[in-house]
Amino acid sequence: MKNTVTTFKNAKEKGEKLSMLTAYDYSTAKLVDEAGINSILVGDSLGNVILGYEDTLSVTMEDMIHHSAAVARGAKNALIVTDMPFMSYQVSVEDAVRNAGRLIKEGHAQAVKLEGGSDFVPQIKAIVKASIPVMGHLGLTPQSINTFGGFKVQGKTLEQAKQLIQSARDLEMAGAFAIVLECVPEKLAQIITETVKIPTIGIGAGRYCDGQVLVYQDMLDMYMDFSPKFVKQYAHIGENMLSAFKQYDNDVKNMSFPTEKNIYTINEDIIDKLY
Ligand code: KIV
Repeated sequence: MKNTVTTFKNAKEKGEKLSMLTAYDYSTAKLVDEAGINSILVGDSLGNVILGYEDTLSVTMEDMIHHSAAVARGAKNALIVTDMPFMSYQVSVEDAVRNAGRLIKEGHAQAVKLEGGSDFVPQIKAIVKASIPVMGHLGLTPQSINTFGGFKVQGKTLEQAKQLIQSARDLEMAGAFAIVLECVPEKLAQIITETVKIPTIGIGAGRYCDGQVLVYQDMLDMYMDFSPKFVKQYAHIGENMLSAFKQYDNDVKNMSFPTEKNIYTINEDIIDKLY
């Protein structure tokens, strides 16, 4: 069954957990969708795991549209949420609406996600008014990496914790249909989850969020540069890929690939006429 923002609303009301994974291409989106995951996030984490940048700041609207459209071609049932990249919504409300619209029209997303708290209420209200569902993102918001001074757990002081709770309330009031909580202490995430009526989707935010999201390369152990504590590795695909690539390299060099099974034939009469 097709997942929509209503699925998210109903899940929170019924106390059912929501699953979300990132995907950035057609083939992966198809598999994630087939697995029955509720939602696919075309995250700007593609800057790290697909494009090899150190952070997400260089990701462009064109990057997001390109990958979002590929994911949309592969996913039938998962709700596709696409990230608004750095500087696509921060400068003005007009920019925010126009760029959110592009992610829907050109990227075929069904909702957009943007990072930031109470300061972004005007943008969220305007995007929602344009009939585009918005997912908020609080806590460790990677687009603010230079302000945070590194990848650190957020909301550990009383002031920060209060600010996060207020931001969650403000995002709900602005019309967001869900909020990602990234790298937030479990108990604070629980309070936020109990405070708002919209679902919270945790990543490094503990057990009491309404759902969970992971970057798929992290959970498959494919992104060997760094693995955060909050990730559970469900497979070691990176190792398998490396071993397969090495075998292929060997096979090509010692001529054990291709074999007769891998070739196309042609009538010998034709070949004779070619000499
Ligand atoms: O870009 C992304 O993948 C994200 C998740 C880490 C939530 O925003």
